[in-house]
Amino acid sequence: MRHKRIMLDVLKGAAHFPPPLWMMRQAGRYLPEYRETRKRAGSFLDLCYNPDLAVEVTLQPIERFGFDASILFSDILVVPHALGRDVRFEEGRGPLLTPVNAAEISQLNSETFHVNLSPVYETVRRLRAKLPDETTLIGFCGAPWTVATYMIAGHGTPDQAPARLFAYREPVAFQQLLKVLADHSAAYLIRQIEAGADVVQIFDSWSGVLDDASFDLFCVAPVAEIVRQVKAVHPDVPIIGFPKGAGAHYQSYRQKTGVTGLGIDWTVPLAAAKALQAGGAVQGNLDPLRLVAGGKALSDGVDAILKTLGDGPLIFNLGHGITPETPVAHVEAMVKQVRGATR
Ligand code: CP3
Repeated sequence: MRHKRIMLDVLKGAAHFPPPLWMMRQAGRYLPEYRETRKRAGSFLDLCYNPDLAVEVTLQPIERFGFDASILFSDILVVPHALGRDVRFEEGRGPLLTPVNAAEISQLNSETFHVNLSPVYETVRRLRAKLPDETTLIGFCGAPWTVATYMIAGHGTPDQAPARLFAYREPVAFQQLLKVLADHSAAYLIRQIEAGADVVQIFDSWSGVLDDASFDLFCVAPVAEIVRQVKAVHPDVPIIGFPKGAGAHYQSYRQKTGVTGLGIDWTVPLAAAKALQAGGAVQGNLDPLRLVAGGKALSDGVDAILKTLGDGPLIFNLGHGITPETPVAHVEAMVKQVRGATR
């Protein structure tokens, strides 16, 4: 039998071999059973706010693959939605929001924030009750910078130019936005922990587009503030930071934010990842396209990670979310290879 919630041991700095395993976006469109539930849900946000269906899709990859961790099914954009911004998801176009301007930032409405998010807390409560004891439950939020990029542009962009320009032109309003997001994200994570999340992860998907000074101000500082607020209430709950694309900033990001675990994208060299393990657990970093390709590309990628990082604190994962075109058989092959690995 596997150890109880081995991912928690790894986040304390212990090495486990084979390592605990889960995948970012593990409940999603590559699974036929997800696509089935999704059809019944109505809109994507309806699915996020429906505890019956959100629990169902969260559990699907656990039932199929027996991952060591389960991540709450929701989206990072429920936070601006709960603050009163208009958020929609359109098939094939991703998220669409009404862009926020400087004047509107002071009008973000906190009053019904937790009431709006109460279905998410209910989903977390039901998940902790339903999950196997040995499965770690991960709650999450988006980092303020990444959430702000969508709020400002109103949609995804390749380089976050609208948010970068806004930040340079309206530094006071932009700092105010980061502060509102940091405070509400911290409160949101605290409620998820109180509902039963064992670990929380902060997704900073767009941290790779910033210069040195902006990285410190827009990524590091607000995440450090979230970590401070969460740790003040729940000092023992591990926090994983995932500053995707942070490159040369990874080391200082860990030190300055105080996150327990570090999510690394697939461009982080394994030798650099090994050095990062000296400061605590790392999570990653298989290129999701190796999982799409399968075969030797997949087995070589898995092998390299296990060989280089397997004797330190490692949570095996992808370097970003799984893509919808991934064959389920390739996920099965990856799970088999990781679980069957010997040193
Ligand atoms: O990891 C998980 O399985 C938990 C669920 C989860 C979703 N989104 C579900 C989702 C998590 C952790 C997220 C985080 C998220 N959402 C991020 C950070 C991580 C990352 O991917 O960089 C970001 C930037 C978003 C915003 C977002 N949501 C985008 C850009 C999109 C559209 C792109 C796409 O893949 O369609 C979404 C939609 C979304 N969020 C889907 C899922 C399963 C697909 C929508 C659908 O099924 O109809």
